[in-house]
Amino acid sequence: LKLKTVLVVAVCAVLLSAATVFASPIVIKFSHVVAEDTPKGIMANAFRDLVAERLEGKVVVEVYPNSQLFGDGKELEALLLGDVHILAPALSKFQKYTPLLQIYDLPFLFKDMEAIDRFQQGPQGKALLNSMKGKGIIGLDYLHNGMKQISSNNPIRTPEDAKGRKFRIMTSDVLAAQFEAVGAMPMKKPFAEVFILLQTKAIDGQENSWSNIYSQKFFEVQPYITETNHGILDYLVVSSTSFWDGLPADIRPVLEECLKESIAIGNKAAADKDMEDRQTIADSKRTEIITLTDAEREAWVEAMKPVWKKFEDAVGKENLEAAIASNN
Ligand code: LMR
Repeated sequence: LKLKTVLVVAVCAVLLSAATVFASPIVIKFSHVVAEDTPKGIMANAFRDLVAERLEGKVVVEVYPNSQLFGDGKELEALLLGDVHILAPALSKFQKYTPLLQIYDLPFLFKDMEAIDRFQQGPQGKALLNSMKGKGIIGLDYLHNGMKQISSNNPIRTPEDAKGRKFRIMTSDVLAAQFEAVGAMPMKKPFAEVFILLQTKAIDGQENSWSNIYSQKFFEVQPYITETNHGILDYLVVSSTSFWDGLPADIRPVLEECLKESIAIGNKAAADKDMEDRQTIADSKRTEIITLTDAEREAWVEAMKPVWKKFEDAVGKENLEAAIASNN
């Protein structure tokens, strides 16, 4: 009888603690650093709305855009502390947790978004989703933004034009090496500070997708944008392993479904906005878009490609080979 009582008490305690962890409704905080009218902002809001439709009364998703809740540098720590539950940082922001994702930062590795898709959906890309599990972070899926361009105070056409100039980068040593390869000075800074750094000319330029250059108004304070398409800006939608694996078994599959659908909506927005935002920037006449000839672009490839070799071991040889093969 004694054993029975102990067991009943133990079961009650487990049920009670589960109920406390997942008080009804479960609140999922989704924090990000960009504007709402961007691929990531649109995806996050679509996820919130789909969950509201399908898990009414059971789960509420709260979206915090524009670094409102947590900015770069703090958001992954907050995820591990349980202060936020879903994030979608740029792939360049995970260096502290794994060197493997830096494959995505190698300059001129992927020729376009289709190549990236092929790599991400292949065995190597899929395995990378789990590359931070040991650190308590689970990669739920990838989300697109677009190819990166270089904006600047001065016209940049050749690698020499970038020499000695300060460019803001995300927290990635590969991105640092990429700018160092052309003699420029990379500066790791949070996204929320970029506009003011550009406006006050504390830095000369930055690299980003058309969507971010537009939605953050970088084009209003940068007289030149060179259309280099030299790298990609993509995201990893992540949660903490403890939060995600601990979700009730009847809820998690529905959330996964909502995630899949909202990512498809975000990816469609990424493809549309890439062209639209570029056009709006061009029409604004606030900045000059510099396009490169094949020979000019080749000079950039030649200057930056040695970075691959430098990081080959860190990102994994087989990953690099698969990424190269995804271009065909
Ligand atoms: C950046 O920091 O430049 C971007 O990663 C911001 C974002 O999330 O798109």
